[in-house]
Amino acid sequence: MPIHTSPNRWVLETQHTAYAFGLNSAGLLTHHYWGARLPRLDDYPIPADPAGFASTDGFGHFIPEEFPGYAGTKYIDPCLKVTFADEVRDVVLRYVDFSVKNSPQPALSIRLKDVYYPLTVTLHYRPHPDYDLIERWVTLENLGSEPIHVERIFSAKWTLPPGDDYSLTHMVGRHVDEFNLWREPLTPGLKTIESRRLIPSHRAAPWFAIDRAASEDAGEVWFGTLAWSGNFRISAEVTEFASTRVSIGLNDWDFGWKLQPGEPLVTPAAISGYTQSGFGGASRQLQAYVRDEILPHGQVPHKILYNSWEATLFDVDEASQSALAEIAARMGIELFVMDDGWFHNRNWDNAGLGDWWPDKKKFPNGLGNLIEKVNSLGMDFGLWVEPEMVNPDSDLYRAHPEWVIHFPTRARTESRNQLILNMARTDVQDYILGVLDKLLTENKISFIKWDMNRAASEPGWPDAPGDQRELWVRYVWGVYRVWGELRQRHPDVIWQSCASGGGRADYGILRLADQVWISDNTEATARLHIQEGYSQYLPAITMEAWVTDWNEGFMPLEFRFHVSMCGALGVGGNLIKWTESERELAAECIRQYKEIRAVVQLGGQYRLLSAQKNAYSALQYVSQDQAEGVLFVFRVHTPEKFNIPQIHLRGLDPEALYSVEGCGEPRSGLAWLEVGLKVELKNLQSRVLRIKRVSPNL
Ligand code: DGJ
Repeated sequence: MPIHTSPNRWVLETQHTAYAFGLNSAGLLTHHYWGARLPRLDDYPIPADPAGFASTDGFGHFIPEEFPGYAGTKYIDPCLKVTFADEVRDVVLRYVDFSVKNSPQPALSIRLKDVYYPLTVTLHYRPHPDYDLIERWVTLENLGSEPIHVERIFSAKWTLPPGDDYSLTHMVGRHVDEFNLWREPLTPGLKTIESRRLIPSHRAAPWFAIDRAASEDAGEVWFGTLAWSGNFRISAEVTEFASTRVSIGLNDWDFGWKLQPGEPLVTPAAISGYTQSGFGGASRQLQAYVRDEILPHGQVPHKILYNSWEATLFDVDEASQSALAEIAARMGIELFVMDDGWFHNRNWDNAGLGDWWPDKKKFPNGLGNLIEKVNSLGMDFGLWVEPEMVNPDSDLYRAHPEWVIHFPTRARTESRNQLILNMARTDVQDYILGVLDKLLTENKISFIKWDMNRAASEPGWPDAPGDQRELWVRYVWGVYRVWGELRQRHPDVIWQSCASGGGRADYGILRLADQVWISDNTEATARLHIQEGYSQYLPAITMEAWVTDWNEGFMPLEFRFHVSMCGALGVGGNLIKWTESERELAAECIRQYKEIRAVVQLGGQYRLLSAQKNAYSALQYVSQDQAEGVLFVFRVHTPEKFNIPQIHLRGLDPEALYSVEGCGEPRSGLAWLEVGLKVELKNLQSRVLRIKRVSPNL
């Protein structure tokens, strides 16, 4: 049983970790422990209640409260801030009771209540023992008769073991340059990572890792992520008394919520973990959890797709797509996806969004002929949509200008010539649901790329039933509702989440989408960086990666393939222009990928030499049973006298015998780990080497 309870103390245990908290002598819910699992329950420390310091600092600075509300002399970063109907802006929570539910998975709930007002706050904890992760979320309820105004509600706060010598790793980026890792010391004060754009955005990712002196392979790392596809906030705080804390939740920037009686507010789930196996260990825990517990189609390997975007842009029609499809099929592609440009009046990005029926000039007979053609070539058919958007030049906008996010007295800022439909509105949700359902019902579509190409501006919702600022949350719920309903009605369809590349890559969207388009940058060397950042919290099976024509003048096609083979392989180049020998090489790489696909998409991933830090990088995947693996090695541009580094394999059984393709006689797993190997490469060369267990014993 992973949940241990007593009247005033709770311990959650996973295979290797534990999390403990309880009531202190004053009845406050306080944090006790987050770290390695200990042999006995009594081993977990119960911190002494610290004495006060001076009248200038409240107890919040000494006592690590599990879920502090803003009240009294607490100047720390709180998890909850509200205004009651009588304008009192102070929330004093006291423990009420706890309960444990065993289904669908064991979860603990701790109920807190304001000492005066009818507000309850329930903290939920669900351990995921096999992944050494704990999921947390919060329910707010108004038991009174007047609304309570919520200004901030986070999903979780964690307190690190005492100390102020931690570093925070997080991600920064922009369009075509997503997922750059950034590690910095946490110093006294508050560090905030956030999105204010309606989606998690390219600028940051809803993920953090905190360590003291960890490496990729070893050392303690505390990490977490938020299952949320909208504005989020991570705040890491080091107090003046050397206490380090981190919180995650809905961003409170421009947030407001009118909590009505009888309408609970449930926050998105935070997923957190602890490891002593460094950043790599943390990633593998998260990646396995996503594969096994989150993805809609679980462990089913993803098909190799072709996407038309970079080849034809908006210039799609039956003839151009059929020509591409014929070549794609000959190369061994399994799924043909037609991107933007196929629907009514869509010839460039200035018109058409909202009118989701085939353009009469490009597809006079609808999509049926093309789909039949693609199917007859042995491939599934997929289609691009951007359902949340509308161009002012569209029938939909002319009929419903009031459906977009806007302030009535302000100009509507267009970005990529488009406006955002207000997905918080149920009439908008129903409309989108209707058109997409029709599209999927009338056509044999196996894959949908769901795109989202702009961030919010003038975030108004003039006829909102509650606080207009609920838009930030209700919009995301609207997307989830429509997408979720479509999934139920069309359970076999595979979905891709795209937001101008990797703007919406999170555990919320991955309950709906099977894979993610992680960047519009498909240049192979840039992609190595982007893929490494993405892998911190997301698995290779979700990482759609196309081989395209970027830098085709000097970047070998084989190198481009090898980079994309590190994820869910796709092709996006203009196949019409590819020579016969390039097509043959592509067919060979695709054949090879089919052999290693299960290991790449379902195996454990080891970042042996970082691509973000080195021009010579190596990445390894190992099957769950340790019977096989695959090693990718890349050399970008380095000086000629470059000293090829030793590569130490990981994840192998030290006591078994393994061969590594092209690297001599089989050796023990331990030898490959300890001694390693060298792979000689020239600039812009790459290798994919298969690893095989030739004997379980030495
Ligand atoms: C942005 C996406 O990231 C691209 O792959 C492509 O689908 C375009 N949108 C189409 O407009």
